[in-house]
Amino acid sequence: MDATPSRSLSERNTIRFVLDGEVIELRQVDPTLTVLTYLRETLRRTGTKEGCAEGDCGACTVVLADLRNQRVRFRAINACIQFVPTLDGKALITVESLRAPDGRLHPVQQAMVEAHASQCGFCTPGIVMSLFALYKSESPPSRQRLNDVLAGNLCRCTGYRPIIEAAAMMYQKGSETTDAALPWMHQAFSDADEVGAGERELVEQLNTLDRRTSLAIHGERHFIAPTTVDELAVLVHRAPGAHLLAGGTDVGLWVTKQHQDLEAIIYLGEIEALRRVNVTDQDIDVGAAVTLTEVYQTLTHYYPELDELLRRFASPPIRNVATLGGNIANGSPIGDSMPALIVLGARLILRHGDQRREIALEDFYLGYRHTALAPGEFIERIRIPIHVADHHVRAYKIAKRFDQDISAVCGAYHLTLEGNVVSHLRICYGGMAATPLRAYQCEQALIGNAWTEASVTAAMTRLDGDYTPLTDMRASEAYRRLVAKNLLRRFFLDTYTPASS
Ligand SMILES: Cc1cc2nc3c(=O)[nH]c(=O)nc-3n(C[C@H](O)[C@H](O)[C@H](O)COP(=O)(O)OP(=O)(O)OC[C@H]3O[C@@H](n4cnc5c(N)ncnc54)[C@H](O)[C@@H]3O)c2cc1C
Ligand code: FES
Ligand code: FES
Repeated sequence: MDATPSRSLSERNTIRFVLDGEVIELRQVDPTLTVLTYLRETLRRTGTKEGCAEGDCGACTVVLADLRNQRVRFRAINACIQFVPTLDGKALITVESLRAPDGRLHPVQQAMVEAHASQCGFCTPGIVMSLFALYKSESPPSRQRLNDVLAGNLCRCTGYRPIIEAAAMMYQKGSETTDAALPWMHQAFSDADEVGAGERELVEQLNTLDRRTSLAIHGERHFIAPTTVDELAVLVHRAPGAHLLAGGTDVGLWVTKQHQDLEAIIYLGEIEALRRVNVTDQDIDVGAAVTLTEVYQTLTHYYPELDELLRRFASPPIRNVATLGGNIANGSPIGDSMPALIVLGARLILRHGDQRREIALEDFYLGYRHTALAPGEFIERIRIPIHVADHHVRAYKIAKRFDQDISAVCGAYHLTLEGNVVSHLRICYGGMAATPLRAYQCEQALIGNAWTEASVTAAMTRLDGDYTPLTDMRASEAYRRLVAKNLLRRFFLDTYTPASS
């Protein structure tokens, strides 16, 4: 199968990004070089650490700044699984960038010092960068939000109490140091319309970086970043063997952990249309390259009951780059978005050349990591219906840890009652079969019947007919069967009101 994306006349081969006020230009870069390796081995910026090299520990956290509506957006990301060409058009901020020219620490760093929030210090640069992204993006948040922001930063020796204390203190530290000589990055987030001089300079600099022509690197390995969906469709059609790269939170690990040699990569992150969410009366229409952070903001607006599930998906640095299209396409039986999207009735728009077809998400999975995508085809959009009638939706994730863990079982439910009779019910589990799968027998046992403890208890046994789960390192078959039943009971208890009986 051909894996080499073809060349076009409107390509450029130079990666350009901003680092500490300077535009860096890179040519002849290996497209799978990670930002972490580049920082440590080429630039010798060794403040950014390597722990796991798979997005789990946060030691490598850096911040990406890019433009959203002519304002700078700051996102914490994991440098260990981010490929260097994806820096194109953005600004990179590392822990070395934070110190003022006169040596003064950044308010986040000062707060860490004063709260005694570091012992061995290995996690500290990553924690500082996660907190820095927060400091520049939000007003002082709640304790729960602080916990969530730090969910991807593992500290093995200090303990989180002083770190959280530092996080709560950093805004006060920032307001104590209003010296005009300090860099603008020392000032905390402000939602004022007026952009300060430092930020304006970065906005102007980012605007000068060329985003009109596609970045294309052709060497031993190929990397191309089309800027329109039509261009993407042609490239994927002509080179069906090339690897699509969206957030890279799966693909990055193929390189850092499996040492795969990715000969050709087509990057989706530069296509504006794929990064857009459109909301209509009927549905939330999500471009395949929208990040999970952005999708979940909209999804929880309509379905606030999904908030916990979405907060427990990996960590903020992963969700800041991982896309919904990538989560769906990777075909994992334990991908966390699928059960909830399937019960809501989500549909996919698949594109092949100039042809489009629509398919229900539940029909997309044909077997273990085997999807309905034909060679040369890709996911263009995801449509998630907006249900306005009286209904109940829930999703529960069972994993060994609350934060940053992979599901053993994930159950999702969507129920409509007429009086106390079940008129509509969809149940879907991840982790119970080779694909995310609906519990058809269990649904049928309940539809048309009263929503009572007795009917739910009887229907729970039908889950044994719906699934033959496996035993693996996450859970045994027996555990999975029991948990799936208990989650259905939990859904009943969460939604049952005596008035509906
Ligand atoms: C530390 C860590 C924690 C994680 N935790 C979770 C978790 O809690 N829950 C969970 O479900 N997942 C988790 N993941 C897995 C991963 O983050 C998700 O699957 C993520 O949504 C993948 O999206 P991406 O944009 O990064 O995909 P990529 O890595 O860019 O791509 C993934 C796959 O999809 C293909 N692809 C991407 N976009 C398209 C498209 N539009 N059309 C066709 N094919 C496409 C790629 O070619 C590749 O095969 C975790 C990963 C890491 C590293
Ligand atoms: S090194 Fe552990 S998340 Fe990157
Ligand atoms: S200070 Fe040692 S790991 Fe956090």
